[in-house]
Amino acid sequence: MSGPEPLQTLYWKEDSLYLLDQRLLPGRIRYRQCRTSADVGAAIREMTVRGAPAIGVSAAFGMVLAAREADRAGTGTGGLKRTAAALRGSRPTAVNLDWALRRMERIIESFAGDAAGELSAALLEEARSILAEDISTNRRIGAHGAALIPDGASILTHCNAGALATAGYGTALGVIRAAAAQGKELRVYLDETRPLLQGARLTALELIQEQIPAVLVTDSCAGYLFSAGKIDLVIVGADRIAANGDTANKIGTYILAVLAGRHRIPFYVAAPCSTIDPNVEDGRGIAIEERDPEEITTFNGVRIAPAGIEAFNPAFDITPAELISALITECGLLHRPCRAGLEYLLAKGEKEDE
Ligand code: MRU
Repeated sequence: MSGPEPLQTLYWKEDSLYLLDQRLLPGRIRYRQCRTSADVGAAIREMTVRGAPAIGVSAAFGMVLAAREADRAGTGTGGLKRTAAALRGSRPTAVNLDWALRRMERIIESFAGDAAGELSAALLEEARSILAEDISTNRRIGAHGAALIPDGASILTHCNAGALATAGYGTALGVIRAAAAQGKELRVYLDETRPLLQGARLTALELIQEQIPAVLVTDSCAGYLFSAGKIDLVIVGADRIAANGDTANKIGTYILAVLAGRHRIPFYVAAPCSTIDPNVEDGRGIAIEERDPEEITTFNGVRIAPAGIEAFNPAFDITPAELISALITECGLLHRPCRAGLEYLLAKGEKEDE
């Protein structure tokens, strides 16, 4: 049984990009209208939109807006490189941002010297393709991953790797959706995911909408859940996967992988091939975004830690490849991810695109 249509993360309408303001969920449903590329950059930085694939798609539309701005100002395509660089820097860990921007830059390069209006139209077409491909990719990830989920499974997930983190359907949550759609009985434990509570606010909302039985727990509950035998498998998304399989995802993911290893429970990562970064050798090369310490010293705008305390707020951590049981991608499953396996997957993905 499926519930109401999931909320739309983003859409393009009449020359603007509309982003569901995820900071307000689940209490309020409001879309932020982005009329300029700077609006899109601000929305990504401020986490109106978040989740690696969703920010990649948003940045692609940001480039459409940038081309239109250049067109109106008659400044040519020179400034578009600067806009791409600014968008790239808006959140440094998720490689999907860079991946989507590269696709847009290829279009710009191929248009050098041509009429600017045509360039905007071509960029809009590319951004729309990136959006549509993201949803179909997630459905394929779901189909491959569902095979790993036994009927009756108790699943632990972290952060939000659902429809809200993508253009639709989701990666880790897409696998859970696909398994539920096959009629499997599931129970999902979801970490609240401090400090921004993507689990408690967003994943909880998606699971309720899907009518999949779900239980919210604090992040520090994980050890107890494993030792009480309540978890059969863990599934999370990813922001960047290095060439050797080391994976960056929301802070707290590494703790779950260590616990899963200790308790011999499968730990799965679900992500599109665009999250694999062959240019980064291993996890040490992945830039970890540090966010404002105020996110942890305050709660809902109210100070909870005493003034004067130092706080450290990295948004992601690295799970070493050896702790990952399998990577679930649109091109198939990769058990025990390693350099050669990832190269094979990327080559397979390129072949399928031809
Ligand atoms: O800081 P966020 O909310 O953008 O972090 C999101 C995550 O860590 C997700 O797990 C990841 O982007 C995968 S989303 C399909």
